[in-house]
Formats: sequence, structure tokens, C-alpha cells
Amino acid sequence: MTENAIILGIETSCDETSVSIIEDNPDGIPKILSNIISSQVEVHQEFGGVVPELAARSHVEKIDQIAKKAIVESGINLKNVSAIAATYGPGLIVCLSVGLSFAKAMAATLRVPFIGVNHLEGHALSPKLNSKLDYPYLLLLISGGHSQYLSVNNLGEYQRLGTTIDDALGEAFDKTAKLLGIEFPGGPKLEKFAEKGDPNKFNLPKPIINKGGCNLSFAGLKTAVLRITRQIKSEQEKYDLAASFQKTIEEILYQKTKIAFKEFKQLTKKKNNTFVVAGGVAANKKIRKKLIEVSNENNFIPIFPDLKLCGDNAAMIAMVGLEKYKLKKFDDLNLEANPRLPLDSGAKFLKGAGVEL
Ligand code: KG4
Ligand code: ZN
Repeated sequence: MTENAIILGIETSCDETSVSIIEDNPDGIPKILSNIISSQVEVHQEFGGVVPELAARSHVEKIDQIAKKAIVESGINLKNVSAIAATYGPGLIVCLSVGLSFAKAMAATLRVPFIGVNHLEGHALSPKLNSKLDYPYLLLLISGGHSQYLSVNNLGEYQRLGTTIDDALGEAFDKTAKLLGIEFPGGPKLEKFAEKGDPNKFNLPKPIINKGGCNLSFAGLKTAVLRITRQIKSEQEKYDLAASFQKTIEEILYQKTKIAFKEFKQLTKKKNNTFVVAGGVAANKKIRKKLIEVSNENNFIPIFPDLKLCGDNAAMIAMVGLEKYKLKKFDDLNLEANPRLPLDSGAKFLKGAGVEL
């Protein structure tokens, strides 16, 4: 029997059913023994977006098979599992509830601790599965539902420096893709589209680029894209618009990251200049390149999760579970799903028209 902690993680917050088993490595990086991810792209494709009820039903249908697969692939004996960790928010409540109930039942049956995990903290800690990472670090979280700069001061201690005041970056990619006639899920396909176009063809706006600190805004971009798509006549112009959108995003992130670097340094007053970029959009290769460039220019060390761990997955949930397990931060089995669970609960709500920056 191994002495290292073994955590089984479960993720069902949106449209990926995932179960993973990781093993602690006290001298280095935890080992992923298995990380099964089942995407529901086919379920939602004809609707052009995630349909919550269908997503929840699909989680219910698949969760036990995915869990079995993860256990078999890991080669572990279930009696060696130290704790069960599951996402309890944020996300779609009907989806969260599936993984949460499954995790609680497993924990009760195996008589091991149950640990509730914030999905965003999963993204925040995802690079710990391939890199050594010490607190504090600056985090840019760019996913389908969130776009934030945060100072990650410790496990569970987050201080938001900036956030989007309207759309999340993944959402902006998905909406732009839809306007260009790219089928769901649009973000990754838009990146490919952009490779075939001229990034200087269209001049798109960069909302709040010179104000609002490192807060972000992408809604104006979508409106501009909509206006241009109405005039587009050729397939090549579509590629050009995708490339111009991609380039504009890179420029916005370049400028805003420089501001976030300054704010983070002032806040922490430490020499720890680590910059972590996580979440689904962190898989975008050109965004990665631009953020490496701005990091190098400002003496920050950029760290990204493995490409496979940028999107939603249970290994990152198990990673948070492992850190909480070591600190004995366990939860009761009556922990409820929280669809709006924040990372920094003290941060001001900044959304919608009339936001003062
Ligand atoms: O983190 P994630 O898997 O789920 C959420 O927690 O939201 O992020 C999904 C988002 C989607 O909006 C998707 O279109 C976007 O990440 N995304 C990308 C790329 N890969 C995924 N956006 C731009 N370029 C990509 N390569
Ligand atoms: Zn996510």
C-alpha cells in the first residue's frame, strides 16, 4: 500500500464529465494516475450552446462509467483513496449537483473525507500538475465564464485586481465565432480560422484600454464584429475578421497584463514574479505567445497549464482537493452547490452598464 495521499476528483460544472485520480509526490509534482474527460459537444452542437437540462442528463448517464474508467486506468485499489473532491461551484446548478451527489455517496461509502472545490480554484492550481509553483502568484484566469486578474496569496486566498465588466473572454471568442458562422464550440475553431487571415485588415475597438486599471471589457468588440459581418462578401474576409479579432485580443491582454504586473508588485512587495495563465482560453497558442512576450519584457516568469489541462477537467479539482486534504480542510456531506461561487468573496460586483471605472 502506498503512503502518499491519493485523491479522486470529480468535475461536472458545465459540459464536461470528468473523473481523475492523482497521487501526491511530497518531493515534486503530483502524479496524474488517470484523468478521463468526456465532452458533450455532440449533445449541444445543434443548439449552438450548452443546454443545461441536456448537460445534466448526460452527466447522470455517464458519471459512473467515467468513474469506473478512471479507477481502472489508475490501477489503484479504491480502499487506498484518501479523499473524494468535487466541484461545488460556480457552474450550472443542475450539472454541479450530479457530480456533487456522486462524490458525497462515494465518500460516505468509502468512509473517507469529502472535499468541495471551487471550479475556478481548480483552474488557478492546474499548473501545479506540471510545474512547481509557490504562493503568491499573479493569475490571469480566462475561461468561458470568467476573465480576471487575481493575486493568489495562498490556498483559498484570492485578491481580485481586475475583472471583465461584461463578457468573459471565452464568451467573446464563442460569440464572434457564431457571428462568423463557425459551429459550436467556436473558440478553438476561431483560432484556426484566424491563421488563414490578415490580422491588419479590420480595425477593431479595444474597450477601456486606457482606463479602469486591469479591468477588461469585450462586449464592444462583439458589436463591432457584428457590424462588419453584415458587410462581408467573401470567405477570405471572414478569415481576415477572425485574424483581426485574435490580434485585438492579444493587444488588449498585452496592455492589461502590464498594468496587472504593476498592481501585483505593489500589492505583494515580494520578488516572486510568477505569472500563471489558466482556463480554457489559455489553450490559445497566439495568446500564450503574447503573454510570454509581455512576461519576458517585465521580468515575470510565465507558467501555463499543460494544454490538456486548460479546459475543464477533474485532475485540477483533485489538485485543489490534495492541497485541502493536507491541511485537513474537509467539508460536511451537506455542502450545497453554489452556482455563483466567487474566488474573492470581498471583490466588488463589476458588471453591466453604468459601471464606474
Ligand atoms: O475553462 P473552460 O474549459 O470552461 C469554463 O470554465 O468556462 O473554458 C471554455 C472556454 C470556451 O469559451 C472556449 O471557446 C474557450 O474556452 N477556448 C478557447 C480556446 N480553447 C477553448 N478560446 C480561444 N482559443 C482557444 N484555443
Ligand atoms: Zn472552467
